Amino acid sequence: MSRCDNLLLGIDLGTSRTAVVADNNYQDLTSSVVGYPKDIVGLKMLGKPQVFGAEALRHHSALALYRPMEDGLIRETDFHNYNTVYELLKHVIRQAAPDGGAACGVIGVPSRAFLHNKKLLSSLVEDLLEVALIVPKAFLVAYKINRLTNSIIVDIGAGTVDICAMKGMVPPLEDQVTLTKAGDYIDARFEALVAERYPQLQLSRGQLRLIKEEHAFVDQYGGPVQTVLRADGVPVEVDLSAELQSACESIVPDILEQLVTMVKDFDPEAQQEVLENIFISGGGSLIRGIDEVVALHLVEYGDVHVRCIDKNGLIGAQGGLKLAKELDPDVWGQVGFMHAEEKRAAADGGD
Ligand SMILES: Nc1ncnc2c1ncn2[C@@H]1O[C@H](COP(=O)(O)OP(=O)(O)OP(=O)(O)O)[C@@H](O)[C@H]1O
Ligand SMILES: [Mg+2]
Repeated sequence: MSRCDNLLLGIDLGTSRTAVVADNNYQDLTSSVVGYPKDIVGLKMLGKPQVFGAEALRHHSALALYRPMEDGLIRETDFHNYNTVYELLKHVIRQAAPDGGAACGVIGVPSRAFLHNKKLLSSLVEDLLEVALIVPKAFLVAYKINRLTNSIIVDIGAGTVDICAMKGMVPPLEDQVTLTKAGDYIDARFEALVAERYPQLQLSRGQLRLIKEEHAFVDQYGGPVQTVLRADGVPVEVDLSAELQSACESIVPDILEQLVTMVKDFDPEAQQEVLENIFISGGGSLIRGIDEVVALHLVEYGDVHVRCIDKNGLIGAQGGLKLAKELDPDVWGQVGFMHAEEKRAAADGGD
């Protein structure tokens, strides 16, 4: 049991959504977006200088919207983006701890952000959390379901698919793979295919994403996708089944290729168990039939069992909270990255 007396948080910082769960029973899923009023009219209308998540999306026309993460990384285009990831984290932490009390948190991030942005992130949360641990999100998924060995986690997010081989330890770099064909790629592909078939339609990426989230499927596991869109302002009924299926299937070959490579990399005596323990998390796990298709393509390697385990999008954050509750913050540094570790390393003359 954790000896930390503060509020404990599990946070999953994602490109499209940030999930938070706390040991005071708070839980929330917020769109990873921060909006700033474009002018004094927007400021007056909203009554505040910053708006987050769904509220920001609702008032998008009055706001300059910033998404702090892109392709699984904190956006590094300008200083403003560092502020937005800080502001987003501050907002979600305050929501969970409204009395402003101290909190300790385990933060899951895409593998790429863990690789490239962990020091930055850790320094950003230094004044937001009493103790903060940064870990790859896929590890938190494995922790939540208690499959820390002989399993593979495939986290299909918006910016990246993170695939992680669990071998009874915190996964080293060589056991993590990041693919950039994920949910956003499906959206772009879907839009291109629809535009090609129906050039007269007025398309919006947001509208197509909603259609995807309602109907996404691979192989024969879904459809038909019939909906009404507009051409020159006039409603037109269209069938988007083939386009949506093709867009969703476009991410599958790369996932399969990496899965095969990873399975073969386990000890031969472990490989059958690994094949029976493949787990899909992230928003992409809701694509109908994705588990079946992955299993079908791996059948020549043995009995395969693929499970989708993230119905509500909270599993990474729940894994973070579980870890925070079970391990004392004194030993968190053995699991992931903490700012304190960096300071210690600097004091010792390390990197
Ligand atoms: N029902 C659904 N079917 C298919 N895709 C979905 C569904 N619901 C959400 N998604 C997609 O899942 C993605 C969001 O998933 P998730 O919240 O796991 O991503 P994220 O953690 O924000 O991104 P990343 O892990 O890449 O940083 C988006 O592309 C979204 O459109
Ligand atoms: Mg994610």
